[in-house]
Amino acid sequence: MIRGIKGVKDILPDEIARWQTIEDEARRLSLVYGYQEIRVPVFEVTELFARSIGASTDIVEKEMYTFQDRDGKSLTLRPEATAGVVRAYIEHNLGASPASQKFFYLGPMFRHERPQAGRLRQFHQYGVESFGSKSPLADVEVISLLWRFLTGLGLPDLTLEINSLGDASDRPAYKAALLEFLKKREERLCQNCRRRMGTNPLRVLDCKTPGCKAATEDAPQISDHLSPGSRQHLRDVQASLGDLGIPYTLNPRLVRGLDYYTLTAFEVTCRHLGAQNAVGAGGRYDGLVEALGGPSTPAVGFAVGLERVSLMLPDAAIPSPQKMVFVAAFGQQGVAVGTRVLDELRALGVRADTDYRATTLKAHLRQADRLGAAFVVIIGDDEAAKGNLLVRNMRTKEQEELPHLTAARSLASRLKTV
Ligand code: HAM
Repeated sequence: MIRGIKGVKDILPDEIARWQTIEDEARRLSLVYGYQEIRVPVFEVTELFARSIGASTDIVEKEMYTFQDRDGKSLTLRPEATAGVVRAYIEHNLGASPASQKFFYLGPMFRHERPQAGRLRQFHQYGVESFGSKSPLADVEVISLLWRFLTGLGLPDLTLEINSLGDASDRPAYKAALLEFLKKREERLCQNCRRRMGTNPLRVLDCKTPGCKAATEDAPQISDHLSPGSRQHLRDVQASLGDLGIPYTLNPRLVRGLDYYTLTAFEVTCRHLGAQNAVGAGGRYDGLVEALGGPSTPAVGFAVGLERVSLMLPDAAIPSPQKMVFVAAFGQQGVAVGTRVLDELRALGVRADTDYRATTLKAHLRQADRLGAAFVVIIGDDEAAKGNLLVRNMRTKEQEELPHLTAARSLASRLKTV
């Protein structure tokens, strides 16, 4: 037997209602906030990710599914979608459109990480990207959308953390100060972080190794190196979050694992998720469009990990399925009428089904019970000859006779009242 790949999961029918609830809410709320759906490919040229996420990030260094296609081109399965959306934004000159420049997406992403609860190699994200505005209110809008999405679905015990990573002009002075500090602690850092000092010193602050955490506890903070403009941007974001009643904490150590961020960065965690506790995260990336060859364009966005949302989604958030009618038909005439009634019910948009394998009433009723049918239509040759059929209410067990011709309509309206 050939098995699926480690860390790549099937989503089976009994889980689908959870996923559809989450995806429906993502679509509904995105439209409410003025975001339009965009669908970008699941694979792109490798260089796109190296140039946007950053060549010295864990994602690009260790986690990408990269392969050569038959023409010898290096391609990569997308580890995230921001890079692809920015590429599409530039390629189709979406910035010139008078329409809104706010997009959302849903879809699979691929990262070769060590699989564990809430961490997969193929996982799914809902994300948004908002282009064209420098305003702190654009940051707050995406944070508000993320927060409303997660709290609206009833996810418990969420924490929103924010930080400012400064703009391109704040970064060099901070990096220099951080590097000087790290050099003094070098012998206490893990191998990986010693290497990162040369490539991407900010990432050291995000290392999960206890030794590195302790060694960098009193590291210089970016907040002490912000220009007045960056500082004001953060203050404005905080003030507006306060106005909208969105609770947050300021975490000066929040750095994020992707290099494109500038100014605001944020992350929502859930206490019950264990080690992989980030449900969603994002931030501003004002330099990325230009770095990828487009016009200078400010932008901000987030992405949510849907497996993690699904793990935390309370059952009460999942709407119960539409009530259904089950048709139990017997005999040549009965089956002919039953098939017609089944078709009429479906044409009216009523969820209706039968079981072609069942030959006895008992087997039909057992299946109707399993499917949670509200009504069962029972029809054999005798009823068919009289032009009638029997309708059994599965809750009260009452049965009544109805004429064939009007049965479907009358059942459709009864379903609304049970
Ligand atoms: P990210 O922090 O890399 O950001 O991923 C966002 C979310 O995706 C995480 O918080 C987590 O819930 C989920 N996630 C990441 N890796 C995995 C995995 N291996 N298994 C399951 N879930 C995972 C981004 O991807 C940015 N593109 C977000 C963004 C959009 N920033 C601006 N715009």
